[in-house]
Amino acid sequence: MQVRLVLCSLLGLSLFTSGPAISLQAEIEHLPPPRKLTAEQAQKAEENYQKYCSLCHGADRQGHANDHAPSLRSKSLLESGTPHAVLRPMQYGRQGTPMAGYLDEVGGPMTLDETWDLTYWLFWQAGVDRIKISTDPVTGNIPNGEQLYQENCAVCHGSEGEGITAPALANQSALAHNSDEFIRHAIIHGREDTPMTPWKDILSDTEINDITAFIRSRASGWKQEKPVLQAIPTPDEYVINPDGEDPDFTLTDGIYVSSPDLLEALNSKKRMIIFDTRATSVWQIAHIEGSFPLPYYSDFNKYKEEFPLDVQIVAYCSCPRAAAEYVVNKLRGIGYQKTAVLYEGLFGWQYLGYPVTRRDIAAGGDE
Ligand code: HEC
Ligand code: HEC
Repeated sequence: MQVRLVLCSLLGLSLFTSGPAISLQAEIEHLPPPRKLTAEQAQKAEENYQKYCSLCHGADRQGHANDHAPSLRSKSLLESGTPHAVLRPMQYGRQGTPMAGYLDEVGGPMTLDETWDLTYWLFWQAGVDRIKISTDPVTGNIPNGEQLYQENCAVCHGSEGEGITAPALANQSALAHNSDEFIRHAIIHGREDTPMTPWKDILSDTEINDITAFIRSRASGWKQEKPVLQAIPTPDEYVINPDGEDPDFTLTDGIYVSSPDLLEALNSKKRMIIFDTRATSVWQIAHIEGSFPLPYYSDFNKYKEEFPLDVQIVAYCSCPRAAAEYVVNKLRGIGYQKTAVLYEGLFGWQYLGYPVTRRDIAAGGDE
């Protein structure tokens, strides 16, 4: 199909664009709400939401509390999304974005049943009518779509679809899980109460199809694979360079250490503990060498004096700082005063070209 499209656009034709928006209207079929939870399941789902998701998606599911995480209650998302549109990102995450996987199979904290229950809970909380959308591909003129995308969308979604203040539309996990019609629905209707405004009165149906086809053209055919998980280290293994000297960081605002200072301390074999405060599934994929998972959803009281109080601790996340700041404040609350947050976060660290340990080296290559 893509070959045909490219050919077609080379000829300057748009033979494969679908019809006007009324054809979408005609396809609307209302679906029943997803499975209802028992009171007990609903309560557990709500607890899980607050524990694992509210940090970024907000206590009321409104989105944009941290890391530009999308709203999980917007009408257009929940009416057009199949349960899988919510379930898959929750289970497997969106690699390369702050959205980690929460399913135990990939190293996350939730069971399969818990991820389903939280999905159903989100649908019930939003209380919107679901509509059945077509699973057919949306076709259009890709070069035209790219131009329109750069003019209208890149400012928030990034010129490569990498996401700036908005979701990474060219993310391979997102493209693997979202249908064309789901993407087109978001463009047409926007996402209520978020910076994503509807485009239906600004762009023509053909233009929206072209942009959708352009976004789809970025898919590489990537598929989610079941990873080989590393064992999680225990607190007695946390201290790196136990015989080294202590680092002497100058902290900005009493909390932030810079990436160059941390790299220098690592290279000169300073005694430290480095905590990766993201969901453990993403520590499994890539982390700063020598770091250990202490996710923001940990039970911090359990850790009271589990590791030495006098060793410098540096915490980081991808966010760049939300989860790490949360963890450092918790650690300070239980007595760990020598604590700092990596200012640039892991993505900033990688952007600087600093070293990370990746799963394919650590666990024999499943990526
Ligand atoms: C002002 C910034 C901004 C602009 C401009 C913008 N968007 Fe968005 N877009 C967002 C935000 C923020 C979200 C997430 C909304 C939420 O909270 O649910 C989003 C969500 C989306 C989604 C849903 C993604 C998903 O996984 O659910 C799609 C698709 C999308 N935008 C496409 C576009 C396209 C195509 C354009 C250009 C025609 C565009 N956007 C322009 C900010 C923007
Ligand atoms: C560290 C911040 C963070 C946490 C915690 C987090 N998310 Fe996300 N989430 C994000 C970001 C950022 C995105 C958008 C990623 C992208 O596509 O660029 C996202 C995307 C999503 C999406 C896709 C929404 C859409 O419009 O396509 C779903 C569903 C989702 N998250 C559910 C959850 C659930 C459920 C939890 C808790 C189990 C959770 N998230 C925890 C940051 C987070």
